Amino acid sequence: MRSSNISMISTILSMSPLNVLVRCLFLIFCCLTTSALAAKTRHFRWDVGNILWSPDCVENLVMGINGQFPGPTIRARSGDTIVVHLHNKLHTEGLVIHWHGIRQLGTPWADGTASISQCVIKPNENFVYRFKVDKAGTYFYHGHYGMQRSAGLYGSLIVDVAEGEKEPFHYDGEFNLLLSDWWHQSVHEQEVGLSSNPFRWIGEPQSVLINGRGQYNCSLAAHFSNSTSKLCKIKGDAQCSPHVLRVLPNKTYRLRIASTTSLNSLNLAIVNHKMVLVEADGNYIDPVAVENVDIYSGESYSVLITTDQNPSMNYWVSLSVRGRKPNTPPGLTILNYHSNAPFKLPISPPSKSPLWNNYTHSKIFTNKILALESKTSKPPTRFNRRIYLLNTQTKINGFIKWSINNISLVLPSTPYLGSMKHNLKGAFDQISPPETFSNNYDILKPPVNPNSTYGSSVYVLEYNTTIDIILQNANALASNVSEIHPWHLHGHDFWVLGYGEGKFSEKNDEKKLNLKNPPYRNTAVIFPYGWTALRFVTDNPGVWPFHCHIEPHLHMGMGVIFAEGVNRIKNIPDVAVNCGLTANLTKNT
Ligand code: C2O
Ligand code: CU
Repeated sequence: MRSSNISMISTILSMSPLNVLVRCLFLIFCCLTTSALAAKTRHFRWDVGNILWSPDCVENLVMGINGQFPGPTIRARSGDTIVVHLHNKLHTEGLVIHWHGIRQLGTPWADGTASISQCVIKPNENFVYRFKVDKAGTYFYHGHYGMQRSAGLYGSLIVDVAEGEKEPFHYDGEFNLLLSDWWHQSVHEQEVGLSSNPFRWIGEPQSVLINGRGQYNCSLAAHFSNSTSKLCKIKGDAQCSPHVLRVLPNKTYRLRIASTTSLNSLNLAIVNHKMVLVEADGNYIDPVAVENVDIYSGESYSVLITTDQNPSMNYWVSLSVRGRKPNTPPGLTILNYHSNAPFKLPISPPSKSPLWNNYTHSKIFTNKILALESKTSKPPTRFNRRIYLLNTQTKINGFIKWSINNISLVLPSTPYLGSMKHNLKGAFDQISPPETFSNNYDILKPPVNPNSTYGSSVYVLEYNTTIDIILQNANALASNVSEIHPWHLHGHDFWVLGYGEGKFSEKNDEKKLNLKNPPYRNTAVIFPYGWTALRFVTDNPGVWPFHCHIEPHLHMGMGVIFAEGVNRIKNIPDVAVNCGLTANLTKNT
């Protein structure tokens, strides 16, 4: 192909202008078809069911895929089509799977959100997810119905650059680290506790997992203290034995780190090894060296490490809890230099992690993440609509909820995608949700009137416009408590224009927004008592949730629904939305 292109170019040089035009068009066509030919359709057949598994050496019921936990890794190239034939083998529960970070351009019914993009897949039924992965990066997938993500329904989704293309950095090998947190209590018990009065909080996790592997009641690091913790089962092929990272000296490795935790914010560190961040949520970032990585639920990063340390030793890789007073030992695995034994214990203890409530550390880290300008589109300089979303902890009839502008999200039984497309007004609340909150709301104090209401209304966004979201954090129900919330948007990436303290003020904060090189991502955090400003373009017809990625918070209502260009959506597969009020409609027309 190459050499014939070259000879064609030399022929072109000696021809008339019209001929040149025709030949050039032909050349462009050839290039387009070759790259299209290189794109593949990749099929996966998955059975989802409960299995007995020991993620942290304690046997539990876990939601697995094809008898495995975590689910199989999907690996594809940019431009490929993924087809997942999903079979629900849970005997008594519906199911959906969401492809976190994949924008679903043109396939909003494949987003895998129960009551939003589709009907749940019933026990013993099938559903086919077919979608394109258009952008290289580190992603994952997870259940998006009830708290099925907390039940263990998740796995990695890695998209490589298209054939013939290169990443803007070099590496010799890579590892894939999917981070999660794990409870011994069943998710059903967790759900019921969260929606009870009196309220029962799920507490801190029993363990944090790396690729579904952790160690309950065993601190590997205890080898360095006189702790009396039980013997750790690190060797052998136990389901909980750590996934050791085997490396050669003097090479560069890419660690793909994604967090699908239910609750915890985490910090990942490797003794003596600096890291260079190069990717966040499937977008290139300006490379920046860090000592350790803060990662919130819903985020992903790629970091490069160089194995330039004394090769006769192994080194701890540790994962510790941030942002909440931890009651969970750090997750650990080993960076194993060739040719040491994989479980040869490292000589130096795991890196000291920043204190859980050292928010200054978190903010410094977060503010270091900026777009790689040559590879990232710039945000529009103006917005068409700006929506302020106040995050509060509230009560409804005595039940504790999370609310956004005083509405706590409850999902309707008919998926929005079908009901909006067919204009079924009875399917969800028809009022427009509030654009902002009261000017005199004191974000530093518990709410004066903590009562809020349930709601299922939708922010209908005009197609192809620029939307700003100002997320505003506040004090929770208890005094002097304000939590971190990582907010995740479906169907889009957004530019993170900035983070700030206190209440956002147009007068003082507008000028601080970064329009030059803001990171482009799908998840962004709000810090305690702070604000975060986001901008995105409504260029993807669909109905998209925007929500806190902490599973219990979403369960307690912490989210909103956006819809854009719904009248442009063609060919929604019947099976996706054929339930609730939409079930009464006949064939798609
Ligand atoms: Cu990974 Cu709606 O979330
Ligand atoms: Cu939250």
